[in-house]
Amino acid sequence: MIKKIWKDYSRYLKVSRKESKLALLFGIIGALLETFSIYLLANLITNLGYKNSIIVIEGFNKFGLRKEICIIIFFMSALLSAISYFISNKNIIIAKCQIERFVREEITDLTLNIKWEYYLQISQGDISKAIISEGQNISEGYLYFISAITYTFIAVTYLIACLIFVPNTFLILLVYGIFAYRIYIYYSEKADFYGKNLSSITSNIGSWTSAIFNNLKYLRSISRDQIAKKESKEIFLKFTNSYEKARVASYKSKFITELLTIIFICLLIIFIILSGSNTSNLILSLSLFIRMTPKIYNAQSRLLDSVAMSSWPKKHLEKIEIAKKFEEDIFINNRKFKFDGNIIFDSVSFNYPKSSTILKDINLSIKKNELIAITGKSGIGKSTLLDLLTGIIKPNEGNIYLSDININRININSWREKIGIVMQQNFFKNDTICSNISLGRKINKKKMKECLLKSNAWDFVNKLPNGIEESIFDRGIRFSGGERQKLALARALYADPEILLLDEPTTGLDLYSEKELLSSINQIKGSMIIIIISHKKEVLNICEKVYELSNGGLKKI
Ligand SMILES: Nc1ncnc2c1ncn2[C@@H]1O[C@H](COP(=O)(O)OP(=O)(O)OP(=O)(O)O)[C@@H](O)[C@H]1O
Ligand SMILES: [Mg+2]
Repeated sequence: MIKKIWKDYSRYLKVSRKESKLALLFGIIGALLETFSIYLLANLITNLGYKNSIIVIEGFNKFGLRKEICIIIFFMSALLSAISYFISNKNIIIAKCQIERFVREEITDLTLNIKWEYYLQISQGDISKAIISEGQNISEGYLYFISAITYTFIAVTYLIACLIFVPNTFLILLVYGIFAYRIYIYYSEKADFYGKNLSSITSNIGSWTSAIFNNLKYLRSISRDQIAKKESKEIFLKFTNSYEKARVASYKSKFITELLTIIFICLLIIFIILSGSNTSNLILSLSLFIRMTPKIYNAQSRLLDSVAMSSWPKKHLEKIEIAKKFEEDIFINNRKFKFDGNIIFDSVSFNYPKSSTILKDINLSIKKNELIAITGKSGIGKSTLLDLLTGIIKPNEGNIYLSDININRININSWREKIGIVMQQNFFKNDTICSNISLGRKINKKKMKECLLKSNAWDFVNKLPNGIEESIFDRGIRFSGGERQKLALARALYADPEILLLDEPTTGLDLYSEKELLSSINQIKGSMIIIIISHKKEVLNICEKVYELSNGGLKKI
């Protein structure tokens, strides 16, 4: 079992090597100093009744020490021991925080790098859950694990001290240790069994909450929000049961070990009385024993807690392996990509994993500053074609060339920086309009106003109480569909794109706004490539070329 826990947590030891080592080292130093101070105290107490100012220290060749010196040494060693324990605990906490941050960063990096078609298969709730809970629980499990090791070392230190100072009680302590170990093994299997499912149940809670709460408006409108209550009860109950049983196993083990301790203290007293040891010996053995036992059951319960939480690092590791398998293969090329305005799709075919072919043998050539339209039935693959162009998905067959260079051989980020895009559904981050439009780029209010004017968004933005400083809540849901569309166009234009992709840009626009949009497009026409996906005759009419996507491929009409 210990080997198993080691396997789960050793990966994180590397993240916090220095702190973990310091925690162990100062734990041991603390225990040594504490043992020594108890030993001195026992001798002091035994000699308190005597008038003699010299205390004879047992075990050190009857070494004699003045009472005052003895008290000072006792005070110093007890104080240093407390300081050492504090340093040890502090380092454990630092290690925990480092691991928490490491896990969160690791999940974020892996998720950001995953191939798009596989990313789509992950639930949003699962990602949030992973970032929040996995970091927290893995680091907490590690905290228990490293505390357990520290406590074990401390207990062993006590045991060795007993062996040196009071060898006749050592055997009893050893028997006690073996019993405590057996109790641990028994309960660790239980904790492991119940703790196994904690991580996957929490995942389910994450996916479940995002599925419900992202669609609450719809569900409430048709009175289906009640299903949330019913489903939640079941899933929450499952989690509570597993968590409760795993944690109670740890406390049961602590309880039994405490009982064992009481029995052993009684046995120890009887043994010492029967063997006729002197009082100093009795006080010393009892003090050491009483100080040692909490360390043993602390080690034990901390180990059990880390076992109960070991499903987290296990699941995390599995996920990392999967994420690595589906990592986006980005061609590392630091050269900035210069776009001359030529795009070629050469016999491109694409299908999603385990799905039938969506795009088959697509040939398309786009020239500098062209304004083209792509039309076709719903679900035929028009948006997918744009995804291929941005490079977030890759053709299964055929090639895409930009400036006559294969898209796979260019610095993809340098290409994407040249793209302005308005998607079918445009969401925003919960921030101001200004920061949503600039998206990390330098803020130039004059330019922002121009973009808002071009996208016909200025009128409604200007009427907001705070203008462009108005906050966007709930990913922009407070704005109407048409308003979101206009804001998205302003955002696309603000990036000075060399190519503008508009996926159904007139959705949600009234006739008047549609006309305004068309006039905006006419204004920017000729200054960049514009690809519009649309069914609307009015939109198709302003384009230089119109292509229709059908089962037979892409045809110019
Ligand atoms: N992640 C995915 N996995 C499997 N199939 C997918 C995935 N995403 C999209 N598809 C399928 O690919 C096909 C093309 O989708 P796409 O969004 O490109 O269609 P579209 O032509 O843009 O349709 P619309 O006009 O309705 O927007 C659809 O049949 C869709 O169900
Ligand atoms: Mg689409």
